[in-house]
This record gives sequence, C-alpha cells and structure tokens, in this order.
Amino acid sequence: DYYTESYRPQFHFTPEEKWMNDPNGLVYSNGKYHLFYQYYPDSTVWGPMHWGHAISKDLLEWEHKPIALFPDKHGLIFSGSAVIDKENTSGFGTKEKPAMVAIFTYHDMEGEQSGKKNFQTQGIAYSLDDGDSWTKYEGNPVIGNDGIKDFRDPKVFWNAKEQNWTMLLVAGDHLQIWNSPDLKEWKKVSEFGKEKGAHGGVWECPDLFPLKIEGTDEEKWVLLISINPGAPNGGSGTQYFIGDFDGTTFTTDQTESRWIDLGRDNYAGVTYNDAPNNDRIFIGWMSNWDYARDTPTEKWRSAMTVPRKLTLRKIEGELFLVNYPLDNMKGIVYETFSDSQFELTKNQKEMIPLKYGNQSEIRFTVKNPEMTLYFSNEAGDNLDIVIDRKNKMLTFNRGKSGKVDFSEKFAGGLQKMDMSNLPEEPVEVKILLDHSSMELFINGGQYVMTNQIFPNEFYTALTLENNSNDELIINDFSEREMKRIW
Ligand code: FRU
Repeated sequence: DYYTESYRPQFHFTPEEKWMNDPNGLVYSNGKYHLFYQYYPDSTVWGPMHWGHAISKDLLEWEHKPIALFPDKHGLIFSGSAVIDKENTSGFGTKEKPAMVAIFTYHDMEGEQSGKKNFQTQGIAYSLDDGDSWTKYEGNPVIGNDGIKDFRDPKVFWNAKEQNWTMLLVAGDHLQIWNSPDLKEWKKVSEFGKEKGAHGGVWECPDLFPLKIEGTDEEKWVLLISINPGAPNGGSGTQYFIGDFDGTTFTTDQTESRWIDLGRDNYAGVTYNDAPNNDRIFIGWMSNWDYARDTPTEKWRSAMTVPRKLTLRKIEGELFLVNYPLDNMKGIVYETFSDSQFELTKNQKEMIPLKYGNQSEIRFTVKNPEMTLYFSNEAGDNLDIVIDRKNKMLTFNRGKSGKVDFSEKFAGGLQKMDMSNLPEEPVEVKILLDHSSMELFINGGQYVMTNQIFPNEFYTALTLENNSNDELIINDFSEREMKRIW
C-alpha cells in the first residue's frame, strides 16, 4: 500500500512526494490528459521551481512521470501552459508528428536578489515524445522584460479564426495579450484590467476561452485571473470576467468582481487546451498562499481540485460561470449505500452517522434551505456550514474542524458566500470529502467552496438542523464511498 499517510487525498491528484503548487501546461494529446505542475523536488516547502508531470486517460486515475522541466541559466521554471503545434508553425516537429510546446516564465532568482526588476522573462521548450523529454529553445527568452516586476504565467492557445497563437500574460496589476505566428516571435497587441476587477494583490495565472451560453448559440469569452492576496475570504483566489474577445482585445461591461470559488483553497486554476468535445476542463491548486507552506502533511504538500467542467449558465436572469465535477467521476463512486428522505420539523436536528470516513461524496436536494450542516467526530472536531436562505448567505466555519493552529491564518474568521441568485426550486448540495479537503457545490456548481481541512479523526457524523419555522424536506440523501485512484 502506498500514499496512505494521514491526510493524503485518495481521489485527488497529489505529487508522490515534496512540494507542489500551480497546475501548468494542461493539454490533451493522443488520448492523454497531461498535468504539469509547479514542483520543488527537494522539500515540502516552496523552492526553486521545476515542472512536475503526470498523465491520465480519464482525469480520474493519474500516472506520475519524471520531472519535465528543470531550471537552467535563465532561471527557475515558473507557471505556464502547453500547446500541440499541429500546423508545425514553430518548425519543432512536423505536421505528422507535431511538437508539444511548453510556454513558461523564467524566474531569475539572482536577478531578483540583486534588486533588478526585469527578472521574469518568457521561455519555450518542446517535446517530440509526448512530454517525456524536453528541449529548451536556443533562442530563449522569447519575451524579454523591460522592467516589469511581476511579469509571468503565459497561457497560450491556438486561435483558429485568426490562424495565430494568442498569449495571456500578467503584468502586476493587469493583463497583456500577445500574438505570434510561430510561438517564437511575439507582439503585444492589447492590455486589460487596470480599472477592472479586484486589485487586492498581484494578478497571476490568466486564462481565456470561449463558452456557449447553455441552451443558446450565443458565445461569450471568459477570462480567469488569479490574485494574491485579495480574495473575498482572504489570501489568494480566482476571479472571472465574462466578455468578448476579437483576437486582440478583451472587453467586458462587467463591473463587479466575481469569483470562481468562494472557499479559501482553490487557486491558480486554469483549463485544458484541446480537450475532446470542446469541453472546458478546469483544475485548481487546492491551497492558499496564506498558509500553503505550513499545512500539517509530512511527505508531500498539497493537492489539486478534482477536474471540473466549466459552463456558462443563465440563472435567475444572470450569467454564471458554473464549475462542477466531471460526469465520469461516477466511475470512482462505489454503489450508493444510503438513500432516503428526511423531514425536519421546526428546529429539529437529525444526526446521520457517516460510514466512509473522509473519502466520500455526500449529496441531497433541498428547497429553500434554512439549515446548518455539522460534521463531527469523537475527537470533538466540528465543522459547520450554515445556509441562511433569508439573508442569501452561506457561512463556512472550519475554526474547530481539526488541526488549525499550524498557521494563524488558517482558521480565520467565517467564510462567507453570497447566494443571492439561488433559485427557489429544489437545489442540489454536493460535498466531496477526501481526507484533507472538502469541496462544496451548490445548485450544480452555481456556488462553490473548496477548503482544506485537517480533522484529528475522520468525521463520523453529519447533523442536519432545520433553522426555519417551516418543515424542511431533504430528498435523495446519499453518502457514497469514493474509490482510491492510485
Ligand atoms: C501562483 C504563482 C505564479 C508563479 C508560481 C511560482 O501561485 O505565484 O504566479 O508563476 O506561483 O511558483
């Protein structure tokens, strides 16, 4: 048996050992999903960055691969993306055997330490054997730096309409868009965001992609921008903008900041290039820079979110970027072991024993929830989620959920999620619990919270409490055990 350390997730991606942060180079090719990631092979805390690598046929089970990219004379290898150069625009491969090209940030640590501002540049590398071995381009860096301190995280995609490559690159407080015919020569074509969105911290890890609004033929472009700090519940988080893109410029009339996840542990998430069926599949890093280095795991540190499908859905008259676990996750769910209906009268509580430790999916549907969910165990840990329908607010409290004192910032205050547009009809509440994480999806991913937790023992009970004066009806309650993926 392997990967059985305490807190080791069993159906989420983790590195075999040592430190991991952002997902990088998400690309689908030859029947495989590639996941590269920010990796430091010498320690469980952040250090000189490499790109780790793993592959999967189905985004459920992963196979670890050797490290893909190592630091070189230009610097450490920070976050970036990967493309398949099908037209062989770069000349690195052929049309029959296209190259996989990685586009990443070089971080020159000595330059940074000597007080320079131009220590981040953009480089490329290519692989002709499906990501196993890599050659750095001799003309690196392909984008230099004339003095922008935070200048990184290139996301590149092929724009079939314009027949060129588009790169999103963040520059401190804004986004830059660059174009290239061949991945080597780049030209800056526009900027976005100095006056848009949240600016509590540096902009990081951009992504941009088109999505059809469900049930229509209308297409919108969605821009993801991670920021650190400045997330609504503290530390790092990911905002999104819905707008239009004409090949050079992104525009939006969105005025308020919107967030893909209101929990504290979903950061630096980006989406797959070339996923089958035009699906838009997102993976985030399940941590927060506020305390990422301090979480109480020993051999490895941190996990990715489950892969989630992104869609644009109109709900109560407003467009939402919805994110929800992939359908094929059914493949790692064991049979349903409990399935029933609960009717709770005014202020009634119902305690449901949990059978499957911390490796389960819990779901039910409920109409107009005015309720509390308490997870508890014999060790006295208690995690509570209050859904306050009247004030359209969900509060998540992990202050006593288990180990919390490894960092002052972990327990924090109450996490709040405004659910103003939650429909009146019955909605699904779905929770994925995996040893050290809880992902909460309300109404099919309209409202989402992802949080790390470190209970002293597995939670053994879930108590549901009706906080309203009316009867509360909970339908289709189930707790299902999840299979381990390793
Ligand atoms: C985001 C980030 C990126 C950077 C990388 C370094 O978490 O700060 O902006 O490229 O991590 O590991």
